[in-house]
Amino acid sequence: MAKNGAKIAILDLNPVAAEAAAQQIRDLGATAIGVACNVLQRESLEAAAAQVLAELGPCDLLLNGAGGNHPKGTTGQEFLDVDRLDDPELTSFFDLDPAGVEFVFNLNFLGTLLPTQVFARQMLGRSGCSIVNVSSMSAFCPLTKIPAYSAAKAAVSNFTQWLAVHFSKAGIRVNALAPGFFLTQQNHKIID
Ligand SMILES: NC(=O)c1ccc[n+]([C@@H]2O[C@H](COP(=O)([O-])OP(=O)(O)OC[C@H]3O[C@@H](n4cnc5c(N)ncnc54)[C@H](O)[C@@H]3O)[C@@H](O)[C@H]2O)c1
Repeated sequence: MAKNGAKIAILDLNPVAAEAAAQQIRDLGATAIGVACNVLQRESLEAAAAQVLAELGPCDLLLNGAGGNHPKGTTGQEFLDVDRLDDPELTSFFDLDPAGVEFVFNLNFLGTLLPTQVFARQMLGRSGCSIVNVSSMSAFCPLTKIPAYSAAKAAVSNFTQWLAVHFSKAGIRVNALAPGFFLTQQNHKIID
C-alpha cells in the first residue's frame, strides 16, 4: 500500500512496535506514523483518530488487525478425556475461565467494532472508503482447543456481513480476510 502511495498510520497497544513498523515503511520512502492506541478504549481510539486526521488527513481505509487468543480460552486437549477431568495439569472444557473467554471476545469482536465506530465517522460523505476486518479460517472450520477464538472470529465474520449491508447506502465497502496460518509474533514459537 505504501508503494502505491498510501499514507499509513500503524496503531498498536505497543507504541514501540507501532513506531518500528512505521519506520520500516518510511524506509521505503513512504509516509507512515506509529500511534499508541488501545482498540478496547473509546477515548484512546478518539485520540488516535484525531492524531491521524491532523497528521495524515481523514481515514480512507481501516484495517482492523488487532486480535488473538488467550491461554485461558484454550482447552488442554483436542478431545475430552473423561478419565483426566480431575488432572490439575489439564484445562478441560469444564475448566474454561469466563474471564479468558471474555478477553478473547473483547479483543477480536469489540476490538473490531470500536475502531470502526471511531474511524468510519471520517469516511462519511466521501467516496471510495473501505473497511477490512481480519477474521480467520477458524471462524468457518474451528481449530481444536480454541473455542473462544473460533467463536469470536465467527462473530467478526458475521459482523462484517452485517456492516457491509448497513454501510452500503453510505458508500463504505466492508470486507473481511479469513487467513489460515501465517508466521507472526503471536504464533512463531508454535509454528517454528
Ligand atoms: N497469524 C496467523 O496465523 C493468523 C491467522 C488467522 C488470523 N489471524 C489474525 O490476524 C490478526 C493479526 O494477527 P498476528 O498474527 O499478526 O498477531 P500479532 O499478535 O503478531 O499482532 C497483533 C497485534 O495486536 C496488538 N494488540 C493486541 N491487543 C491490542 C489492543 N487492545 N489494542 C491495540 N492493539 C492491540 C498487539 O500489540 C500486536 O501487535 C489477528 O486478528 C489474528 O487473530 C492471524
